[in-house]
Amino acid sequence: MLTDIQDLATKLAPRLIEIRRHLHSHPELSGQEYQTAAFVAGVLSSNGLHVEEGVGKTGVIGELDGTGSDNRILAIRADMDALPIEERTGLDFTSKTKGIMHACGHDIHATVGLGTAMVLADLKEKLPGKVRFLFQPAEEIAQGASWMVQDGAMKNVSAILGLHVFPSIAAGTVGLRYGALTAAADDLEIMILGESGHGARPHEAVDAIWIASQVITTLQQAISRTQNPLRPVVLSIGQINGGRAPNIIADKVELRGTVRSLHPETRANLPHWIENIVASVCDSYGAKYQVNYHQGVPSVQNDYALTQLLQASAEEAWGSDRVQVLPEASLGAEDFSVYLDHAPGAMFRLGIGFKDRSHNYPLHHPLFEVDESAIITGVVTMAYTAYKFWSQP
Ligand code: NI
Repeated sequence: MLTDIQDLATKLAPRLIEIRRHLHSHPELSGQEYQTAAFVAGVLSSNGLHVEEGVGKTGVIGELDGTGSDNRILAIRADMDALPIEERTGLDFTSKTKGIMHACGHDIHATVGLGTAMVLADLKEKLPGKVRFLFQPAEEIAQGASWMVQDGAMKNVSAILGLHVFPSIAAGTVGLRYGALTAAADDLEIMILGESGHGARPHEAVDAIWIASQVITTLQQAISRTQNPLRPVVLSIGQINGGRAPNIIADKVELRGTVRSLHPETRANLPHWIENIVASVCDSYGAKYQVNYHQGVPSVQNDYALTQLLQASAEEAWGSDRVQVLPEASLGAEDFSVYLDHAPGAMFRLGIGFKDRSHNYPLHHPLFEVDESAIITGVVTMAYTAYKFWSQP
């Protein structure tokens, strides 16, 4: 079976590169993937899959029935959206849409998803169960997975697989991680309410700017002294608004930030922990406060057995020297985690770095580029893992 998959993928390579370049030059922003979705749906239906469009607003589902009697459904997820970045690569197939670029490799994800569907469609006589392909919109705004789930994309799904491109490992290599892969990403808003007054008479006012600065400093220090250093928490205040004039003491300051963590229990305690610190600083200096903590996407926690299956399949396909178990999780976020509330799953990192370049630009960079040979690595790894899934209990 592995040889069949490898032969089919190699035969498909020129077509897949064409697909990838088409998607790359026609990027669309989150929630506006109309052309991309129509294109994906066209390829899926011409390969004999049952296609449903408009799932999760601009998402597409393609279903492939195997011929066996296993009634489990395996889902494979690919995201499709691009970013508001002006591309500067100068490639022949550079973005044709000003100010929008596939700078996170979701064009590769969609292509690998389509390639996997084509390969498995060709081998469906040998597939014991059903494979459901989820082409998801709006990953970059961390909403597409929820939209898909709300529209029933995870109904009866037994397990889900996904991948994300990774520029810091070479094309041809696959990166894996057991347990936490990405962080939970939550939003934080803190309002400090003091009392206005003359800049010359601070004792008659409650200075919200000074108290806000104490809140920020205390939060940062408290992370290092009260959070378990082996369970990372990153709290970054990225926005601060307050004050009206240089000689007026501000009565109101708004702080907005992002909170990242890897461990679910750590995350569960963060709203309370933050509120306590804000309260103690504000109480000390006579300010009032409001804390709004919005839970965003959870951390991606890779299922042990499915990660093992990915590792075994990838090692069989490429040899163990081309499969890396990654030592570190990322504090970036990924809404693949939303699917994991409904079924176990695993996501791998697909190496896309050029071996002959000393520097590969990171994700979300206007010069970000992909070694396209990685498409076949992705397709074979995904298709073979999917095939082997059915032999698992
Ligand atoms: Ni991405």
